[in-house]
Amino acid sequence: MINNLEEYHIHYRDSVKDPEKYWKDYSSKFLWKKEPSDVLNWNFIDPDIKWFKDGELNITENIFERNKEKADDIAIIWEPNEPNEENITYTYNQLFDEVCSFANVLKKLGVEKGDRVIIYLPMIPEAAISMLACARIGAVHSVVFAGFSASSLSDRINDCQAKLVITSDGNFRGNKIIPVKDVVDEAIESTSSIDYVLTIRRTSSTINMKKDRDIWYHEIVNTVDKSCEAEKMKSEDLLFILYTSGSTGKPKGVVHTCAGYMVYTQFTFENVFQYKDGDTYWCTADVGWITGHSYIVYGPLLRGAKTIMFEGLPTYPNASRFWEIIDKHKVNQFYTAPTAIRALQSFGDKFLEGYNLSSLKVIGSVGEPINEEAWNWYYENIGKKKCPIVDTWWQTETGGIMISPLPNIIKCKPTYATLPLPGIQPILLDNDGIEIKENNVEGNLCIKYPWPSILRTTYGDHKRCKETYFSTFKGYYFTGDGAKRDDEGMYRILGRVDDVINVSGHRIGTAEVEDAINQYKEVVESAVVGFPHEIKGQGIFGFVIVKDKSKDIDYFNKIREMVTKHIGPIAKPDKILVVPGLPKTRSGKIMRRILRKIAANEFDNFGDISTLLNPEVVDQIITAHKN
Ligand code: PRX
Repeated sequence: MINNLEEYHIHYRDSVKDPEKYWKDYSSKFLWKKEPSDVLNWNFIDPDIKWFKDGELNITENIFERNKEKADDIAIIWEPNEPNEENITYTYNQLFDEVCSFANVLKKLGVEKGDRVIIYLPMIPEAAISMLACARIGAVHSVVFAGFSASSLSDRINDCQAKLVITSDGNFRGNKIIPVKDVVDEAIESTSSIDYVLTIRRTSSTINMKKDRDIWYHEIVNTVDKSCEAEKMKSEDLLFILYTSGSTGKPKGVVHTCAGYMVYTQFTFENVFQYKDGDTYWCTADVGWITGHSYIVYGPLLRGAKTIMFEGLPTYPNASRFWEIIDKHKVNQFYTAPTAIRALQSFGDKFLEGYNLSSLKVIGSVGEPINEEAWNWYYENIGKKKCPIVDTWWQTETGGIMISPLPNIIKCKPTYATLPLPGIQPILLDNDGIEIKENNVEGNLCIKYPWPSILRTTYGDHKRCKETYFSTFKGYYFTGDGAKRDDEGMYRILGRVDDVINVSGHRIGTAEVEDAINQYKEVVESAVVGFPHEIKGQGIFGFVIVKDKSKDIDYFNKIREMVTKHIGPIAKPDKILVVPGLPKTRSGKIMRRILRKIAANEFDNFGDISTLLNPEVVDQIITAHKN
């Protein structure tokens, strides 16, 4: 672990001077079935990236067998939706038993090494257990956030040709029960690869169990053994696929592989959170996102840490819930998203009263830029001005944290993710792809050298991986983000420079939302952009052309229903404006920067609009918006 600034500089220097040696040295702490000797092969043109190529391992052996001395320590504390329902805790040994039993159930249902398994679960312990069970037997998990619609779920099942879905009989979410099993049933109707639906009992809701396809976990688990040998995996065998939105087309399956992901998630977890034995760590994310994968499950468990999994919502039963949990479990490291911070801040400080947050040592932020006001509130009211804020910048594709302060080592600066971690070589490029070398500049954020957990491909479509990340700026990994570098070399992330909207820390592709809106039969065409939103960071603004404006239709609600049906509630537009036309260039491309300005209530300085085919439409849209 890096302990002070001098060590950080030494680590950083070594990691750039000889990356292979740096990561080879770090990787020696892991349990390999076969030690790797070939550390890195790469090019960013094809792209082709292989870390520890000739090594063999199993990531779960590195959680359980390697951490033998932790066998009786707590691995997971599960905090349920209802504050008065009891916690469940698992020691490493107990978790190991659960993982092995689950792995044997998967085997019994015919799941083999390399098969894809979809996990569509609420935040119950089985979410983590089933991920690890897949990893134990070499199956590839793909967790789908349980708020996605049936149509999003079936797209993902079809894309990866999954054999099995793991779900529950319902999700408790605040005071609602979400019927996830019904969603799975509907999704499977438009798929053909699923053999079984393994169902966990959680809400005891009445559900439909299809004969020969749907299996109750609590029944089948009694028929299997509690021990399961770890499958021998090659370093570059797939560990998981996680779907994420981009600027075009349907979400793509980001692929992470076994060894590099393992090495980098433990490395970043222990350094960024400065986790010490005995600490209690809590990340509030959902396992449906990369943050949950890397910093609820893999990073902390590889380190032998005590990690909290929370089923509920920050505002249920009221806006004190996070603070109550921190107090109850004496949380030392707390990791959440700016949208949650802003939402809780908006409820007022009275919800903090009576809770002792003095156990906190490090507080973190992830998923979107944190504005200064939220940063200050978090720092003063939650961290009580003694906890550094780790504003961690990274992505689904990066697998782990890339730019972040190391607490009490690298000074924090509000709204800045600050400095790259060892092994990360960021650069800023101008729009012509020329490196901007000076400080105090802004540019397109790219990375010029591989790190162990960089994505390897997009599942089933390597060309798309190349086009999306390695073609805009040849020879570099392009993040899709803009960034500023200050005069001390610290990075501030400015947000996406592509057509991706970041809503409450979730990536939503504009094309995806437009596709969903266009499914509504009264819509002729639509264009979606992000706009500044006080709580969510960005909201979704849809401009739509409808067939017949004179019809008495509640377009706002109809369109939101359509988007909920096709993607899920998280992608529902906040605003819908019916417009007579969309600003288009002569080549037929929608000029989104104009729409972005209008959505942000900025009605002048549109820049050069001389290439517009229909410049008059700009004023018409403004008029419609003002009315
Ligand atoms: O725009 C950046 C933003 O979230 C994007 C990645 O989203 P996703 O793959 O869903 O992963 C989110 C969790 C790692 C980035 O391209 N982002 C992430 N962290 C930050 C951020 N923007 C500003 N500051 C951050 N700390």
